[in-house]
Amino acid sequence: MKGRVFSGARPTGRQHIGNYLGAIKNYVALQDDYDCIYCIVDVHALTTLEETGNIKENTNEMMLDWLAAGLDPERSILFVQSHVPQVMELHTFLSMITPLGWLTRVTTFKEKARMQPHNINYGLVGYPVLMTADIILYKADIVPVGEDQLPHLELAREIVRRFNNLFGDTFPEPQAKLTDSPLVLGLDGVNKMSKSLDNHIELAASHEETSRRVMTAFTDPSRIYRSDPGHPEVCNIYSLHKLFNPDRIEELGEECRNAGIGCVDCKRLLAEGINAELAPLRERRTILAETPKYVADVLAEGAHRASTIASETIGEVKGKMGLI
Ligand code: TRP
Repeated sequence: MKGRVFSGARPTGRQHIGNYLGAIKNYVALQDDYDCIYCIVDVHALTTLEETGNIKENTNEMMLDWLAAGLDPERSILFVQSHVPQVMELHTFLSMITPLGWLTRVTTFKEKARMQPHNINYGLVGYPVLMTADIILYKADIVPVGEDQLPHLELAREIVRRFNNLFGDTFPEPQAKLTDSPLVLGLDGVNKMSKSLDNHIELAASHEETSRRVMTAFTDPSRIYRSDPGHPEVCNIYSLHKLFNPDRIEELGEECRNAGIGCVDCKRLLAEGINAELAPLRERRTILAETPKYVADVLAEGAHRASTIASETIGEVKGKMGLI
């Protein structure tokens, strides 16, 4: 039997090339070897006030990118967290066996609490419990995540062990699967690519928008005049060339070092590389976006399939906890 993969992501709207290279491409590839369930976690988004404005629209835009990138609703279950409310039930049951100390010790909680001292809500403390419920409601074995999520996965395993000890073997201990993804820096060349820093390129951007944004990117700061030799190893444009123009990477490095190519031309080539790689995805996205109700239908079907598994688990949990 195939293993089961579960992953969740917050509804951040249109995805950028950092999301694509860091997570989405990997989600797509895992579909070949596992039964995959991918969820947009809209309830988790409610833990931070800033994100609550456009949850529905962000969910829709994000799912369009996922589908255009190759997440396949015929093979995988794609759904929205709040559409399968059994997860809230499991969250409550798990909360009864999770010591508060485990949760207040989690580094991500302390960090969030520092970032929003005006809104340290109960849901924020329970964030990893809800995340555990997401995963184990489907008895997933494997969870593809970024490194930042490892403390949550550790806690999920602790909760699972405790549940299994108290009520008998029920859930597999979920394992994190770290993606060996490149760190994609933003156009500022300093920070990780992120929408909030506005240093990103959207997957769905037009060719022109992509070129315009690439042109604003920082390059090797010591290269001031066109005739100055460049240092590709410190240039973010060069690191993006590695991802989008791997075939020409040697040549581009050489040309930069001997000032054969200027930054403007080098960026133009990068924009061309990005546009070429993303063209099929963008085409699919446009078609899907124009198909009436397509995303809504995919999500309804996903919620239906997820719900069947979820109800079975909830029945089992209630039985084991002595409720029925
Ligand atoms: N906490 C994750 C993040 O912020 C999102 C998430 C919620 C998740 N539930 C999950 C990830 C379950 C993996 C599995 O990125």
